[in-house]
Amino acid sequence: MLGSEGEVVFAPSTSDSRPRRVGGQVGGWRGVRSVAMILATSRRMRAFARPAVRSIASVAEGPRWEGVTMAPADPILGVTDAWRKDTNPNKINLGVGAYRDDNGEPVVLKCVRKAEYKIKMMKHNMEYLGIAGLPSFINNSLKLAYGPDEDLSKIAAVQSLSGTGSCRLMADFMHRYAPNEPMHVPTPTWSNHFNIFADAGVTVKKMPYYDATNIGLDMKNYYKALTSIPENGFVMFHACAHNPTGVDPNKRQWKKISELCKERNLFPFFDMAYQGFASGDCEKDRAAIAMFIADGNKVGISQSYAKNMGLYGQRVGCFSIMCEDADEKKRVESQIKMIARPMYSNPPLAGALIVDTVLSDEKLAAQWHREVRGMAVRIKKMRKLLRAELEKRGVASTRPNGDWQHVTSQIGMFCYSGMTAKHVQSLAKNHSIYMTENGRISMAGVTSNNVERLADAMKVVMAEKP
Ligand SMILES: Cc1ncc(COP(=O)(O)O)c(C=O)c1O
Repeated sequence: MLGSEGEVVFAPSTSDSRPRRVGGQVGGWRGVRSVAMILATSRRMRAFARPAVRSIASVAEGPRWEGVTMAPADPILGVTDAWRKDTNPNKINLGVGAYRDDNGEPVVLKCVRKAEYKIKMMKHNMEYLGIAGLPSFINNSLKLAYGPDEDLSKIAAVQSLSGTGSCRLMADFMHRYAPNEPMHVPTPTWSNHFNIFADAGVTVKKMPYYDATNIGLDMKNYYKALTSIPENGFVMFHACAHNPTGVDPNKRQWKKISELCKERNLFPFFDMAYQGFASGDCEKDRAAIAMFIADGNKVGISQSYAKNMGLYGQRVGCFSIMCEDADEKKRVESQIKMIARPMYSNPPLAGALIVDTVLSDEKLAAQWHREVRGMAVRIKKMRKLLRAELEKRGVASTRPNGDWQHVTSQIGMFCYSGMTAKHVQSLAKNHSIYMTENGRISMAGVTSNNVERLADAMKVVMAEKP
């Protein structure tokens, strides 16, 4: 449901008496209770939620799911559907959020293949993991996100179902322990953020972020919105390679934001779906998080190995929350597990084994760092090439000065081109080139072979009458 200001609003929780995150300098998740107390509450809630049972006599005949209407197509996955249906042999899919090599083919990293072989040789059993997942995988993931020197005894963490699953755990945890707090997100943001948080019963509030005129960061209004979040509030950041815009704050801007979060005791939740994939360097890509922690913020992090290890279908990630101390960590972790248990019981084994094998082996880890850098380098190269081809053709962008500087200054998988929905529709209809309606080009789909055709088509559609 959309509120009057376009924010996603969900029906209020039935459990306003639930414990809340306690604000103030030392207040973390003090309201987090023991497992036994929560079990008692959830039994009461299940009884409350049980539907009324109708008598047999009153049951009407007819199709059971008659009232189910068709759901709208997913705005991102729908692009690939449309591309699939197109019979043009030269069609291009620039909607897909998955890496492709310069021949447009999906890539399995060599380090991943080697890890798979190693795992096969180990004749690993197929037993269930614990609710929290594979302990050494979690340990390795935390070191990657928080740096090798962070005290992990204060970090509550579980293996998650990739980035989406991590965000969902955050949303459910918020709904239980900060039930009236909205999550503040940048506008635009990854479209699934709205589904995830709203589905968990968390209100999503949009903040200005993107300056459509200049195709850059609207720092003035973004910062203003951040300052108006009530103290102790929750705010989501894209750790690097903001999706869909590719526009990140610079170091100075991050510093200002970090200090503000500390001052107002905001809870910064970092969605880090692209560590290493943005700059090619995992350390650089976690620099904002490191800065926030150095400034005294206690952060939450969603990690995904979909893009940076190419493990899209393995659904492997890590969700973590920094706590005040080891005791708080234990309580928080126990309650995150209470959320995971009825949702998926325990996370999948295969992907976690692959990541853990790569990160635990010095040689494989070094190879992974080289390979992730290789992917980032190809994306950057395509950005340069696309910009050069557009400039060569004299195409004007929608920026006031018509230049294409944003194509190379943006970072990560996506280029927010500035093209309008009309341009995008014309590209699909007349040129068999597909992307999301917001003009977002997946740079992963751009290759040395199709970049000229893309620039030619962009020239045509951008010259068409608006
Ligand atoms: C910003 C952001 N967060 C999270 C995700 C989730 O990805 P996954 O669930 O595949 O790890 C994505 C994927 O596109 C993303 O762009």
